[in-house]
Amino acid sequence: MVSAEGLRRGDRKTESMLSFEDEERPIGVQLFDDSPDAIADAAQIAQDRGFDIIDINLGCPARKVVRKGAGARLLRNPERAARLVETAIEAVNISVSVKMRSGWDEPEEIYLELIPILADIGVDFITLHPRTRESMFRGKSDWNKIRLAVKVSKVPVVGNGDIRTGRDAKRMLDETGCSGVMIGRASLGYPWIFREVSDAISGRITDNRPSEEERLRVCEDYIRELIDFYGERKGIFLARKHIIWFTKGLPGAKIIRERVFNARNSSEVFGILDQRKAESVAG
Ligand SMILES: Cc1cc2nc3c(=O)[nH]c(=O)nc-3n(C[C@H](O)[C@H](O)[C@H](O)COP(=O)(O)O)c2cc1C
Repeated sequence: MVSAEGLRRGDRKTESMLSFEDEERPIGVQLFDDSPDAIADAAQIAQDRGFDIIDINLGCPARKVVRKGAGARLLRNPERAARLVETAIEAVNISVSVKMRSGWDEPEEIYLELIPILADIGVDFITLHPRTRESMFRGKSDWNKIRLAVKVSKVPVVGNGDIRTGRDAKRMLDETGCSGVMIGRASLGYPWIFREVSDAISGRITDNRPSEEERLRVCEDYIRELIDFYGERKGIFLARKHIIWFTKGLPGAKIIRERVFNARNSSEVFGILDQRKAESVAG
C-alpha cells in the first residue's frame, strides 16, 4: 500500500516501494488517499511504471491512514469512495480493483450497497475482508458476508480473512462462490501456503509440507534479499520478525528468536541460521 500523495510528490521512500521484477507479473500496486486528484496522478505514474493493476484501498484501519480520510474512513463517505475509484478508472487503461472492509462499524456496514455501485462504475474486481474498521482483527472473518457480496456483485469478488490452510481456501471458494482468495497473515514466514492452496483447489491430496531444512534455506534467502534491498540496519531490523515467522513451530524456535534479537549485524544473523540448519541436517 503506498500513499498516492507521496507518489505524486515524488517522495523517495514511496518511490522505492514501486520496484518489482518482471517475474512477479501480473503485479498490482495499492494506493491510498482521499483526494481524487492525487489518486488520478498516482495511478498514471503507476501505469507508466508498468503495473498491471491499480488497487484502491478502502479498508486500511490504521489510525494514521483513517485520520487523513483514507482507507476504511472512506466507507463512511461512499460518494467520495466511488468518486476516487471512478477517477482512477478514468485516469488509466489498466485494471482497477478495490480492497475493502465491510463497513466502519457493525451499524454502518455498507458493503452490500457499495459493491454494486463500484461494479457499475467499472471496477474489475473487488476484494472483501468482512470485518469492520472498528473490529480491526478481532472476532472472525464472516464468510457469509462474502457469499452475500458475491450475490450482489456483477464483477468477481475475491474473499479474504482467516484462511490458514489450503483446505480453508477451498472451503471459502465452495461456501461463498467467490472467484478468488486473498491470503495475508498465513503467508508470513510461510510462502508455501500458496502451493498448498493450489493443491487443495485442484483436488491434489498432498502432504507437501516443506522440510525444516527448506524452511531455513528459504528464510536465509529471504533475509539476504531484505538486507540487499533495505541495507544492513533496516534489513536486520525487519529480518528479526521474519525469522520469528519462518521458524515458528520448529524445535528450538525460542532460542533462535532470542539469539536473533541480540544479533548486531548480518553475519551474526546468518551465523545463527547456518548453525540451526546444520543441526537440522544432523538431527
Ligand atoms: C502485516 C500486514 C500488512 C497488511 N497490509 C495491507 C495492505 O497494505 N493493504 C491491504 O489492503 N491490506 C493489508 N493487510 C490486511 C490483509 O490484506 C487482510 O485483509 C487481513 O490480514 C485479513 O486476511 P488474513 O486473515 O488472511 O490475514 C495487512 C495485514 C497484515 C497482517
